[in-house]
Amino acid sequence: MNIDPPLALLAEITHRCPMRCLYCSNPVNLEPASRELDTATWLRVLDEAADLGVYQVHFSGGEPTARKDLGELVQHAAELDLYTNLITSGVLLESEDLFRLADAGLEHVQLSFQDTDAAGGDRIGGLKDAHRRKLEVAGWVVDAGMAFTVNAVIHRHNAGRVGEMIELAVELGAGRLEVASVQYYGWGLKNRAYLMPTEQQLDAVTEIVEAARDRLAGVLTIDYVIPDYYARRPKACMGGWGRRFVNIDPSGRVLPCHAATTIPGLTFDTVQDHALEHIWQHSDAFNRFRGTEWMPEPCASCDFREVDWGGCRCQAMALTGDAAQTDPVCSLSPLHESVRALAEREAGAGTETAVYRGAKKESVLRDLS
Ligand code: SF4
Ligand code: FES
Repeated sequence: MNIDPPLALLAEITHRCPMRCLYCSNPVNLEPASRELDTATWLRVLDEAADLGVYQVHFSGGEPTARKDLGELVQHAAELDLYTNLITSGVLLESEDLFRLADAGLEHVQLSFQDTDAAGGDRIGGLKDAHRRKLEVAGWVVDAGMAFTVNAVIHRHNAGRVGEMIELAVELGAGRLEVASVQYYGWGLKNRAYLMPTEQQLDAVTEIVEAARDRLAGVLTIDYVIPDYYARRPKACMGGWGRRFVNIDPSGRVLPCHAATTIPGLTFDTVQDHALEHIWQHSDAFNRFRGTEWMPEPCASCDFREVDWGGCRCQAMALTGDAAQTDPVCSLSPLHESVRALAEREAGAGTETAVYRGAKKESVLRDLS
């Protein structure tokens, strides 16, 4: 098989994070700081990524600004002519940090907002005063002259404020807004019943987003990802397994996607043991679901098999217990109706309990404790 190089490296440089978002898609068991790659190894990995043909580096986590060497990594990536993006909650940043990152060559910042309502945002993010700090950071990003995207994750408890979220993104001076529905992996899967929107909410969000796209053409680009469970066709997750993205976790494991460790039976090579190009080309984990040969029916004979690449392997794992199944959000999957019924049941039940990372038991989510 002729394997093209990946477009982008997702560099998960740490799993440390002061926030405890109820929808966090990072694994349930996070890598501790003691297992994080050191600076020299990340610098080497960036060299290898550039040699491989990678075009963009997305520094993420956890909260990537928790690492003191972020500026050094950004500068090195910029010197290699890699496009640099920081995906951040913003809550650890001071203005001088941001200007230093801009000087180091950082080109783009994606800043997450949990809500437009401070209390709601802080509750979903599990951190007091987070919303106010994010508003401050947004001003610094604009002042520093970097490209700016607001990331907004939509769920049952904030879907009614998507219009306000669009207005907020415009007011903050963002050029792009990502309105993304919760993806139920990792920790977020535990809180699915709390987060799942109703179909009526989803229809209203879609209508508001579509109207805003027309109204704000040339001012704000809006990317919109509907909740998988209500979709008719699955997303081409990661642009297809092992096609566009390579993800490196804090301990150096090279993954086809950030949730791939939820799939049992896959073995992941590490950047300590092998060069990135070798892993991209030869790793069992990448080759297991690359292309179309692994596909079962109905994907194997479907006209969309090179459009969505069979959907999301991690979702197939989470919903069927078998990552090699057709993603059951696809309407051609025999399990599709049961997934939709599950979404409607969970959204309709209106549960008011969820669980934060580190909490001993489920909490009723009225106030942060
Ligand atoms: Fe995509 Fe498979 Fe569904 Fe066809 S059957 S649309 S390839 S998930
Ligand atoms: Fe892993 Fe979709 S999140 S393939």
